[in-house]
Amino acid sequence: MRTKMVVANWKMNKTPKECKAFFRAFSPLYKGSRNREVVIAPSYICLPQAELSKPASVKLSAQNVSGEASGAYTGEISVEMLKAIPCDYVIIGHSERRLLFHESDEEIQKKVVQVIRGGLGGILCVGETRNERKGHQTLEVITRQLKVGLQGLTSQDLQQVTIAYEPVWAIGTGEVATAIQVEEVHRWIREFIWNKFGIEEASNLRIIYGGSVKAENIYEIASKPNVDGALIGGASLEAKTFIEILERIK
Ligand code: PGA
Repeated sequence: MRTKMVVANWKMNKTPKECKAFFRAFSPLYKGSRNREVVIAPSYICLPQAELSKPASVKLSAQNVSGEASGAYTGEISVEMLKAIPCDYVIIGHSERRLLFHESDEEIQKKVVQVIRGGLGGILCVGETRNERKGHQTLEVITRQLKVGLQGLTSQDLQQVTIAYEPVWAIGTGEVATAIQVEEVHRWIREFIWNKFGIEEASNLRIIYGGSVKAENIYEIASKPNVDGALIGGASLEAKTFIEILERIK
């Protein structure tokens, strides 16, 4: 049985003070994890505050990490630094990193390796742009991102990996993918893992959906057999809204 996972990606929002205020509102409403893993991904600078303020069963994720272990990389944050928080997960290859910061599949793969070797959980994001979907290239793009992103990993390493399917055209646009579209891609991802690693690895892998998730649309998507949770941006910034989504993912 796969445990559902709900990740709040705060992106470049909230100061440490605002992070504290979020948890002040969130904690009394939060009824615990129960068969669900709840993960908050604030900015690097908010991670220590989140660690102090969060309920014990809520986990933390970084939104990015360096592909290098340490050294002369001004402005970068390493896996070792995240482990010192402590942080449980790292989001890797979010489409905003790929598109706005020109991260390549190869750079993303280096980050995946750092995270897995460092013993953290990696949330690898994949997804097609609007033009790629229009050009019927969705599955081809996802396959390439998975093939390169997971290169060099063993079946054992895969236990630390979650895949987030985030169609770029659905992120922050209010245009959510249909449950049928999501299920089709998630099934494809599971089949890819089955072929590359094996049936057990495929059935244990968590595949979560992200892109304009709201309380009104998540129930149908999360009810599909290959959907194991959600990665939520905008709707995770307000404690009450985020709680409403959590209540619909059981
Ligand atoms: P959104 O963002 O929920 O605001 O569309 C999702 C994401 O980018 O992870």
